Amino acid sequence: MGQCLSRQTRRTDRPTGDLVLSSVMADPVYSDPCIQHAEHVGNTHNIQQRKDHNDRFLVVAIDFGTTYTGYAFSFRHEYQRDRLKISTNIWTHNVGLSEKAPTAILLNKNQEVVSFGYDALNDYAELTEAKKQSKFFLFHRFKMNLYTDERLKSNTMLSDIRGKHLPAIVVFSAVIGYLKDHAIQRISGIDNQLNLEGKHIHWVLTIPAIWHDKAKQFMRKAAEQAGIETDRLTLALEPEAASLYCRYVPVYDSAAANSQSQEDLTRPAPGNSFNNFRPGSNYIILDLGGGTVDITFHTVRADGALQELHQPTGGYWGGTLVDQEFSDIVRRILGDETMMRAHVEYPQEMVEFMSEFEVKKRMFKCGQATPIQIKIPTCLTDLYTEMNGTSLSEGLANHELKDKLSVKRDKLVLTAELFESLFASSLSHIIGHLIQLLNSESLKCIDTILLVGGYSESPVVKENISRVFPNIRVINPTDASSAVLKGAVLFGHDPYAIASRVCKNTYGVAMQVPFNPNIHFKEECRIIDGLVYDVFDVHLRAGDTASVGAEVIEKSYYVSKGAAYGILDIYMTSHVSPVSVTEPGCTRLGTVTIQVENVNNESDTKIAVSLVYHGTELDVEAREVASGKITKTTVDFLG
Ligand SMILES: Nc1ncnc2c1ncn2[C@@H]1O[C@H](COP(=O)(O)OP(=O)(O)OP(=O)(O)O)[C@@H](O)[C@H]1O
Ligand SMILES: [Mg+2]
Repeated sequence: MGQCLSRQTRRTDRPTGDLVLSSVMADPVYSDPCIQHAEHVGNTHNIQQRKDHNDRFLVVAIDFGTTYTGYAFSFRHEYQRDRLKISTNIWTHNVGLSEKAPTAILLNKNQEVVSFGYDALNDYAELTEAKKQSKFFLFHRFKMNLYTDERLKSNTMLSDIRGKHLPAIVVFSAVIGYLKDHAIQRISGIDNQLNLEGKHIHWVLTIPAIWHDKAKQFMRKAAEQAGIETDRLTLALEPEAASLYCRYVPVYDSAAANSQSQEDLTRPAPGNSFNNFRPGSNYIILDLGGGTVDITFHTVRADGALQELHQPTGGYWGGTLVDQEFSDIVRRILGDETMMRAHVEYPQEMVEFMSEFEVKKRMFKCGQATPIQIKIPTCLTDLYTEMNGTSLSEGLANHELKDKLSVKRDKLVLTAELFESLFASSLSHIIGHLIQLLNSESLKCIDTILLVGGYSESPVVKENISRVFPNIRVINPTDASSAVLKGAVLFGHDPYAIASRVCKNTYGVAMQVPFNPNIHFKEECRIIDGLVYDVFDVHLRAGDTASVGAEVIEKSYYVSKGAAYGILDIYMTSHVSPVSVTEPGCTRLGTVTIQVENVNNESDTKIAVSLVYHGTELDVEAREVASGKITKTTVDFLG
């Protein structure tokens, strides 16, 4: 008989201490005293048990960034000899070479990839000049949409730079698919005897630690749609990846730097690799990217593995906030309409304008006195004159910013003070948040801040953080902007390197327990036939530590006698101690259907359930105790 079970949990004749999941259709027997939240440690199993994949001799990691994206790889034999032998693809562009390319993808009207990165931006500009852009889509810097969209679904739409829509999953999987094919082609070209096949590659995709579960799962779906099989893919938390990488590379150390001359500041302090961190060291990894500032907290265990001290935290305070501040100033002096027309009619010139700003932003130092000159595109000065009937330099002479900003021939000149103020909003968020964290009791043990991500290479950022925390060692590796990318390769080779994580949310199962007047308030409960429905049975609590290799607690439920399957509803909340799954803030993540192997008409079927948190995903395992049959699933947060 195939019978749909409800998420209801009922008590029946069985040893006290077990929880009961039963069919609404079945005929339960009630006799036990109340059996709430009792834990049954039956057959435990280890977190992150994984099959050995001997045929996977290559790890390819994709760092999908807000501003820049790239891939890196290493063969297993290389990793075993020298972990840092990691190859990155080098992208060429007008002003040089880089390990990551802008996160930009150009698609045609059939949603096929035309080009990626620097090429996508240039191709789109050419299409616009030729007035052919309307048949194409350009998506640029779109990753943050996943973080900001709380209602993210598989069919969420994304708008391109002109406001034309495509499903977000199409755009994300187009980027992943492009990089996947690029990587396979590039690696196959290294050695024509390699005969590289899909089964040889393990893929890693980076994810900000502060992202919500839906966004993380969205990335997995996008990777699947791009042709990466799910069991060949690991999601890596960006700061965790960076933390792994920084254990092996030379680093910039503020303490050592203080004793060096000013010119030496960017050179690594001799012998100061992060590997020198002794067990017991406690540090913060601050991943300062273009979009997110991702903060994680690690301690080095006695066996050298890393353990998370606190849930990841952070916000949308990365390097693009500085760009936005600059764009806002330009908009204030030129007006909204001029800016809008310039972006629409002359995208190439605007891209070049922002590229020039990027160069100045990267070079700027605290306390610099020299004004900063940025070439203004002709389109801006012409449009300004057309709309205002006066030249930009005349217009600026009467502007409220006239003491800080001027125009000299084709250059916009900003005082150093005004330029430094562009970093203020982002820095005050980052530093304010760090002060709050470091004042908390549980993080008093932190003695080091590890700065990674492209934005951490800014002298302004480094100096401000070091100044505010004089008693904390501030470390910045030489290739901070690719630490996440290269660390993701290391993570692919050794997914157990992060030994334990702190659970961000509370996860559990909806169940039904007998009404107990000492515990339950009648007015607050849904009670039917003496049973309280919708009880949140917590498996993993926010703030709890989930360790690799630790025993996972199983809880037992029952499928009513005669029923062929049971249904388990999985819930999540950010609250530490939820009582009911109907409380505000509780979300039903999904349903696991458990097919009963040995349908029994005499007694209920006992099912042992465990929930395993990996930092990036939640696995559910339900074991039919009598037959040993296991039903496994990764929770689909996208619904
Ligand atoms: N030397 C530098 N000075 C100032 N800013 C810099 C420097 N180098 C890179 N950046 C900034 O760092 C940001 C890019 O960093 P990164 O490549 O780590 O970000 P991302 O991976 O694209 O973003 P996210 O990790 O948030 O998704 C950009 O805003 C860039 O302007
Ligand atoms: Mg990044």
